[in-house]
Amino acid sequence: MLTIGVLASGRGSNFQSIIDEAEAGRLKASIKLLVVDKPDAYAVERAKKHSIEHLFINPKEFPSKDDYFRKIAAELKARDIELVALAGFMRIVRKPLVDAFPNRIMNIHPALLPSFPGLHGQKQAADYGVRISGCTVHFVDEGMDTGPVIIQAAVPVRPDDTEDTLSARILKLEHKIYPEAIKLYAEGRLRVEGRIVKIAGCELKDEYIVNPPIG
Ligand code: GAR
Repeated sequence: MLTIGVLASGRGSNFQSIIDEAEAGRLKASIKLLVVDKPDAYAVERAKKHSIEHLFINPKEFPSKDDYFRKIAAELKARDIELVALAGFMRIVRKPLVDAFPNRIMNIHPALLPSFPGLHGQKQAADYGVRISGCTVHFVDEGMDTGPVIIQAAVPVRPDDTEDTLSARILKLEHKIYPEAIKLYAEGRLRVEGRIVKIAGCELKDEYIVNPPIG
């Protein structure tokens, strides 16, 4: 069974969506460890409730960012973690962790990358006035939200959307596509070629959406 380690900074609703799929038996994986970079991250309460080991690793206690991520990699390796899932982890992952888990770290981002990377992807999209936004699950490299895309899902953006209303619409889809991407990984169906992710046994359809509807 796939062993997963999760890194989070806050609320942890994406962490919960992974827990729920695993507990329901739809995702054949065992979540072995939660690492947080903030002592009061609510994700810790979720870990406690589901008897998942959790660690607060304080970035302030390390002389450099590389040292911090070397420590996280060591804790994950010590527990034989195979896949690392970033779930609202608000730091750019550094080389020591990326190198320890090549194409074995995933992230969920609340925008259609490469649009609106970084913080507040939903606010960036609403402020820009795009008609369609969404979320992206991707493998993590050393850049900021730049790694190979695994799954994307789109939602319409309304002219009166605020950061909060758009975030809520996108979050519902995050909770669907993140466990789905992990399932594909667990089933051995993802292959990374350069920056293209090939998905075995997945037939894509030539459908499209237009917002606002036309015709
Ligand atoms: C989610 O919307 C996630 O996509 C976003 O933070 C939120 C965390 O929510 N991540 C980023 O913006 C990463 N750049 P959660 O803690 O409830 O999962």
